[in-house]
Parts: sequence; structure tokens; C-alpha cells
Amino acid sequence: MTAPHARRLVAGMVGGGLGADIGRTHRHAMQLDDLFELQAGVFGRNPQASAEFAAKLGVPEDRVYSDFREMAEREAARPDAVDVVVVATPNDSHFEIARAFLEAGISVVCEKPLTQDSETAAELVRIAGERNAVLAVPHCYSAYAMVRHAARMARDGKLGTILFVDVEHASGWAATPLELSGHKQAKWRTNPDIAGFPSVVGDLGTHAYHLLRYITGLEAVRLSGRLQTLVPGRRVFDHSTVELELTGNVPARLWAGMAATGHNHGLRIRVYGSEGSFEWQHEDPHHLKVQDLAGATTVLTHGLSTLSDDATRLTRVGLGHPEGFLEAFANFYRDLAEVLRARRDGTPVPERDLSFPTGVDGLIGVQFVEAVAASHDNDSAWTVPGSATALTQSASLSQ
Ligand SMILES: NC(=O)c1ccc[n+]([C@@H]2O[C@H](COP(=O)([O-])OP(=O)(O)OC[C@H]3O[C@@H](n4cnc5c(N)ncnc54)[C@H](O)[C@@H]3O)[C@@H](O)[C@H]2O)c1
Repeated sequence: MTAPHARRLVAGMVGGGLGADIGRTHRHAMQLDDLFELQAGVFGRNPQASAEFAAKLGVPEDRVYSDFREMAEREAARPDAVDVVVVATPNDSHFEIARAFLEAGISVVCEKPLTQDSETAAELVRIAGERNAVLAVPHCYSAYAMVRHAARMARDGKLGTILFVDVEHASGWAATPLELSGHKQAKWRTNPDIAGFPSVVGDLGTHAYHLLRYITGLEAVRLSGRLQTLVPGRRVFDHSTVELELTGNVPARLWAGMAATGHNHGLRIRVYGSEGSFEWQHEDPHHLKVQDLAGATTVLTHGLSTLSDDATRLTRVGLGHPEGFLEAFANFYRDLAEVLRARRDGTPVPERDLSFPTGVDGLIGVQFVEAVAASHDNDSAWTVPGSATALTQSASLSQ
């Protein structure tokens, strides 16, 4: 008989049907360390297509449901209920779906942005707490080994005092009006009802903002945001620039753009301290460029024996081999599995200050979107994230 601690965790999924983007990444990532098995789901709104796709994935027929409500109810009633459900649907449905599972006491991985406003995001955080369920948000860039090492260096004061942070998530994927050509993901990301007017902030800005917080350990005290639409006729904002004041009066700058012509997936962070600086880029994720006061550059590489334990425990391949996004997602699932397994098996949960982003990080991301939109509406006035009112009428393209 398999020891309980070695049993795979049982996962379910809502969304991630045929041709969907991120659901597939979640499935691969969950398998990489063989910690999870996908056993239940609703793979799209069309029950017939969902059932056909589930069969291809090897999901048992009796655990393919017609909608998420039925899935939450029936899974919660099973003695072998799923340990976790991944919500990989477009943004407007995250809240209802995540709430249904959390209320049933089932842990949830919910895609970003967690919800469309901070009231509902806070409600999910509250329900997860009340129902003793884990709520995780896959800001998976924070799971790269070299990002973990950077976070360790910043926390251990290796840069001295942090003086300035510059982060950008500038992608060129929507530099043309793709939405007019029927592109599936562009269609909902440029629909304000699904993605919100500050779409680019929810989509890319929340990743950049989380990376900034995760690496530096600093929080935004206030921010000044500006939203623009670079592609004529687009119904949402596709370009955002944000000036921030972080804990301890540390200034920071964030640029999130989906119309950054020619950029592939330009996520980059640079942190400047009193004794040195470092730079990490998603398109070269296994390197961390560190510079000292004299300007000498050291390139730290994933796999080096001198890296921190935070990086080494998430390293699968030897020195010189590249690490990929899939592995960063897998690292997210490895951290999540550690917590879910301990809860399932009644063993102690390891204490780590660098682990997976939770619902609170998701809520902070949604508050960030609201604060940028509110600041923009108010002539880019300094705004305190979390104090803005719900985003109902606030951001409009006419401004
Ligand atoms: N963490 C990341 O790096 C990352 C990357 C890409 C996308 N995302 C997020 O993932 C989510 C999905 O994005 P995508 O690009 O994969 O979208 P997509 O349009 O490619 O896929 C969405 C899937 O959800 C299904 N769906 C929609 N409503 C449903 C419902 N009510 N019940 C069941 N299934 C439903 C669709 O049929 C489709 O299969 C978004 O919130 C997005 O912001 C995160």
C-alpha cells in the first residue's frame, strides 16, 4: 500500500478546455514532480466539448461535471474529494467559481487577477480562512529559482539599503488590434466587461507588482498611475505607467504594457541598493546579474553550488541547463503541494517566508488595479492602494 504522504494530491480544474492557454500550463506543471493527478473538472462552458476533452486527459467520466456548482457540491460530498481545484477561466468568472469551492471547504488555485474588485477578492480571502482552505494565486514568476535567490539576497541585505526599484511587464502581443481578427484571448482581454477597463494592469501589471513585492519584501504605501490606450479603437487600456512609494519611502516605477511593439514577454526587474544592484529578466530566467558599487558585474547562474537553499531546493537541472516557465509553474505547485499534503496527512506545515503567493497577494493585486485606475481618474493623484472604492464607474476610456 502507498504511504499516505506519498499519495498524489487529487486536483480538479475549471476552464482550461481545448485550445485554452494557461490551463494546459497548469496541467503540465502539476505533473512535472508527479505530485498531483487531475481527476475532475469542467473544461469549458459546453458540456459535450468538456466531456470529450476530459476523456482525452484521462479524467474519469463520473467526475466530469456540467458546471462548477455541480462540481463543488458533488466533489465535497465524496470521501475522496479533490484536494484542490484550479480556476483557469477568464477573469469575470473567478469570483463565483472560487467562492463555490472555498465555501465547500475545497482549496483553490485561482488565476490572476483574483477577482474584478477588491471587495470580492477580500471575500475569497475571508471564506478561505473561515473554511480552513488554501487559496493560492499563480504569480509563478516568483517561483523561478533565481527570483527566489534575488529575494533572499534582498532580505539578507546583500544590496545594502534598497534605494529604487524598476519593474516592467511590457509585452507586444497586442500591439495590433488582434481582437478584431477573432483571436480568442485578445477578445476577452479587450472586453471591459470581462477584463475591466484597466485590463493591462490586471493582466500584466499584477504580475509585475507581485514580483516587485516578492523580491524586495516592500509594500506600496501610495502610487500615482496613468492609463492609456495605444492601439486606436481598443475598448480597454493597454498601456500603464505607475510611480510608487514603497515602505521606507523607497521610490519605484512600474510599466505594464500589452502594446510594447516587438517585445515578446518583457518582464524585467531591477533593484538598486546602497551597496549594489541586481537585474532579472523572464526571457533569461536562469541568470541574475549582480553589480557592485564599482560597477563590476557578476552573473549568477541557476544550478551554482553557492546559491541560497531557497533557490537550490527548486532546481531540477544541473549547472548550465536552462530553466523554463513551466518549471516556475511546477515550483509553484511544489510549494503548494507541501502545504496541501501536510494538511491532508496531519503533519506539520514547513515554515517558509518564501513560498507560493496566496489569496492575500491576489487581493493586493486587485487593490493595485483599483488604485491605478482611481489615481488615473483623479489626474494621477497620489493614491493609497486598498483605500480606493470599488471599481464600478471609475475608469473610463473617455478620459
Ligand atoms: N499566471 C499566468 O501567468 C497566466 C497566464 C495566462 C493567463 N492567465 C489567466 O488565466 C485565466 C485564463 O486565461 P487564458 O488565456 O487561459 O484564457 P482562455 O480563453 O485561453 O481559456 C479559458 C478557458 O475557460 C473556459 N471557461 C470559460 N468560462 C467557463 C466556465 N464558466 N466554466 C468552465 N470553463 C469556462 C473556456 O472555455 C476556456 O477553455 C485568465 O484569468 C488569465 O488572466 C494567467
